[in-house]
Amino acid sequence: MTETTRTTAWWQEPVVYQIYPRSFQDSNGDGIGDLPGITSRLPYLAKLGVDVIWLSPIYASPNDDNGYDISDYRAIMPEFGTMDDFDTLLAKAHELGIKIMMDLVVNHTSDEHDWFVQAKSSRDNPYRDYYIWKDPVGYTQEGQPIPPNNWVAAFSPSAWEWEPETQQFYLHLFSVKQPDLNWDNPTVRQEVYDLMRFWLDKGVDGFRMDVINLISKDPAYPDDPQVAAGGGTDSIFFAANGPRVHDYLAEMNREVLAHYPVITVGETPGVTTTDGLLYTGFDRGELQTLFQFEHMGVDANPNPALGKWNDQPFDLRDLKRILSKWQLDLAGKGWNANYWNNHDQPRAVSRFGNDSAEYRVISAKMLGTVLHGLPGTPYIYQGEELGMTNVFFEQLEDYNDLEIHDHYAKLVGSGAVDHDTMMRYISASGRDNARTPMQWSDQEQAGFTTGTPWLALNPRYPEINAEAALADPNSVFYHYQKLITLRHEHPIMVEGDYQLLDSAQVSAEEDAQVYAYLRTGRGHTAGQALLVVANFSDQQLERSFQEPAGSRSLLISNYPDDAGDTLRPYEAKIYLYQAS
Ligand code: GLC
Ligand code: CA
Repeated sequence: MTETTRTTAWWQEPVVYQIYPRSFQDSNGDGIGDLPGITSRLPYLAKLGVDVIWLSPIYASPNDDNGYDISDYRAIMPEFGTMDDFDTLLAKAHELGIKIMMDLVVNHTSDEHDWFVQAKSSRDNPYRDYYIWKDPVGYTQEGQPIPPNNWVAAFSPSAWEWEPETQQFYLHLFSVKQPDLNWDNPTVRQEVYDLMRFWLDKGVDGFRMDVINLISKDPAYPDDPQVAAGGGTDSIFFAANGPRVHDYLAEMNREVLAHYPVITVGETPGVTTTDGLLYTGFDRGELQTLFQFEHMGVDANPNPALGKWNDQPFDLRDLKRILSKWQLDLAGKGWNANYWNNHDQPRAVSRFGNDSAEYRVISAKMLGTVLHGLPGTPYIYQGEELGMTNVFFEQLEDYNDLEIHDHYAKLVGSGAVDHDTMMRYISASGRDNARTPMQWSDQEQAGFTTGTPWLALNPRYPEINAEAALADPNSVFYHYQKLITLRHEHPIMVEGDYQLLDSAQVSAEEDAQVYAYLRTGRGHTAGQALLVVANFSDQQLERSFQEPAGSRSLLISNYPDDAGDTLRPYEAKIYLYQAS
């Protein structure tokens, strides 16, 4: 194969592994993961075979939202180490051929960032206009200022916080300690471009951009109709995709990204595929890929007032419809980033697979197979390659995440749900499922720390840990390793077209148990095809498919043998067809 015949670009080929530094590996016994800890685990990641690491934020932060509230974009959080530690991590990763993407959190800063400290000090401070300030639209009878609109923040009741000193509200779409930057101010944009250059000039390889489609706000600040109707845990989707967001991203690209060989992915809540093409279109000069949220909504509560909080299973037919829509609508024009979980989502095997002792390993492999078989860039979240599971803590206080505490207050406080129900919902949907420490061994504290971990371990660590996985050739780890190798060795995994497949027994739209799709080669992979078949149920099923032309070989499977049209519980396999 020659490079000239490839139909994809270099940045479409990698597999990305996300690290949540606080929970990955502690090196000094303070119970908090850190940069030297990550460096010590690079050989593990090299063995898995990943090409890129995305680091959740490592910058100075008061940790209201665990680093997603940044007080200095050019400093390392002291708990995580020093800039020297970072330079060592970057250099060692590069030696192993692993790139590093940084988390770029620039919709908001911390309220402890010097810009905000200045901004709130007086109305005529030069930094005032770095943030979004509004006069009250009136006062209540008790003399309370009334905010400009009804927006609900993700981590507090109102998106507007009153600043008594200067008698104005500031906007914060997340917590009170995360004031939104004013992107309409060109100086703010230049500040952001400067800090991006700072990291790129150091040699980092790209950015994952936090809630990047929230940076432009509708200047009319209209009320959120869902809140007006009495529901919704936040106004994030409503505030997304503002009028100038594409101007700003195109400018960022012209000013910064176009001058470096970077990998970019935008976190974009509340996008449709039409939006998705505007953000990632190959001809648009904005972002390379994005994280859409539609498939994360597949198990949301049917009562919109309860948002994502739910403990009922998803319907595979919805999942297939959503993933297929994203594949088909972006095909040839934009590029998907595919993920089952991240630091904000419950564990995939508990959510989309089956985390019982009997089916955990097999269903975790099934999920990996489906995700890595899709067109787009596969993302792995730390511990996914071990089949790590959700956790249940008895006490609300055992959870750390501010979203859990805020939404508990909103929903239990308003009487929308009772305590016991909400505790069940938290165990199924809460963000701390992803944040319990990485399980390295069956030793004390799972080898994560010699001290007391900042968040309790998942009690299943004696059974589910990296050491056990590495010692077992049938582990989830080696299945992921093989999926990554297949992507590196078979360009069709990257560039083949996608088509949802009906079986002879039941149409794809109606099949609530099996997900099957075809990848068809093009360019230099023309004549090849992949058939991906996955049983999402614990039932044994019969499914037969119209096979593409050519000789067939089994590339990967989560069972030791092939039973043809008989699909055993959670069975998943990929066949390669080669026309002669
Ligand atoms: C993104 C992050 C999440 C964070 C929020 C505010 O959604 O992934 O962890 O809380 O933005 O920065
Ligand atoms: Ca530490």
